[in-house]
Amino acid sequence: MHRVAVIPGDGIGPEVIAEAARMLDAVGGVDLHYLPWGANHYLATGETIPPDGYDTLRSFDAVLVGALGDPRVPDNRHARDILLGTRFALDLYVNFRPVRLLDDRLCPLKGRSRDAVNFVVVRENTEGLYVGVGGRFKPGTNEEVAVQEEINTFTGVNRIIRHAFAFARSRGLRKVCMADKSNAMTHGHALWQRVFEEVKADYPDLDATHLYIDALAMFLVLDPGRFEVIVTNNLFGDIITDIGAALQGGLGMAASGNIHPGRTSMFEPVHGSAPPLAGKNVANPIGAILSAGLMLETLGRREDAVRIERAVEVAVHARDVTVDVGGNLGTREAGEAILRRLR
Ligand code: NAD
Ligand code: IPM
Ligand code: MN
Repeated sequence: MHRVAVIPGDGIGPEVIAEAARMLDAVGGVDLHYLPWGANHYLATGETIPPDGYDTLRSFDAVLVGALGDPRVPDNRHARDILLGTRFALDLYVNFRPVRLLDDRLCPLKGRSRDAVNFVVVRENTEGLYVGVGGRFKPGTNEEVAVQEEINTFTGVNRIIRHAFAFARSRGLRKVCMADKSNAMTHGHALWQRVFEEVKADYPDLDATHLYIDALAMFLVLDPGRFEVIVTNNLFGDIITDIGAALQGGLGMAASGNIHPGRTSMFEPVHGSAPPLAGKNVANPIGAILSAGLMLETLGRREDAVRIERAVEVAVHARDVTVDVGGNLGTREAGEAILRRLR
């Protein structure tokens, strides 16, 4: 039995998580413990996450999250503490984001088939521009100065680049592409260059290439088939995985894991709380369901993960899906259609 903490969160989070939870109940062996953290909890109590919140999460085998973000909390404080806070506190340094097209019809690119979109983004998840180092001087005035520093450490850059190469080798993949902006960010990204060269030398059997992130963004759209494993920093990884989501049919299709190998890790769809869609039974639950699958795989339950992926694939091919991906089902009914295949 695996003990999993579930944070349904805000907006469409609870709706998509309900469907993911049904898949987990169907495969069995998972004990779900719900945590109420999110905008409602924050607005009612003033607490974003309890003082022992990260310890609570660490006591589970894994964490499953819906989405966090609510227009009633404009500074996004609760999401910062719950989502980013957990990534930092649990040191979940690998943001693993697979980009796989399940059906030719869902690809927004002309004349591309499934084999043209199948890669993973390994996003650094614990440093970069996300660490919150900086400040504002004379805020609200016309002399305001706003500083936000990008932090790149040898430890951080080394472990994520090594993870990308090790992952490629473990899956029999050959191509690893590192993307940075070392032509402009001549201090911070010089470190990425240095480490990439060092790690590359340890993997002479792999085809290691470098692209500047702007060029990589272009190639993602023109020729995604050239990629197998992409490794990049926190912010660039955030941006290109929304492009990756679009290549799979939309934000509703994309799954992710925030992983520290061997430790409690956190799984969530790539999309956010999509406030305009909340409470309408229209959100696509597939990103959340595939994230639950990724969680099982990381917990060593590959067979159950594959069962979930297959069930999703069959439902997608039958167009038993939500409106955003060309079906006419609601969130609940699309979940039901996958559950039927799973059973
Ligand atoms: P978003 O991902 O919530 O939504 C953008 C658009 O994508 C939606 O309006 C919708 O058209 C589409 N979309 C997203 N998920 C979908 C789904 N499951 N099914 C169908 N369509 C879907 O991004 P946003 O609007 O920029 O952000 C809204 C809030 O979510 C913000 O507060 C933001 O900070 C937060 N956010 C949270 C996470 C997270 O919790 N991991 C991720 C991204 C954004
Ligand atoms: C994501 C989200 C988060 C991020 C936000 C909500 C802070 O966009 O998980 O992709 O930028 O990492
Ligand atoms: Mn994002």
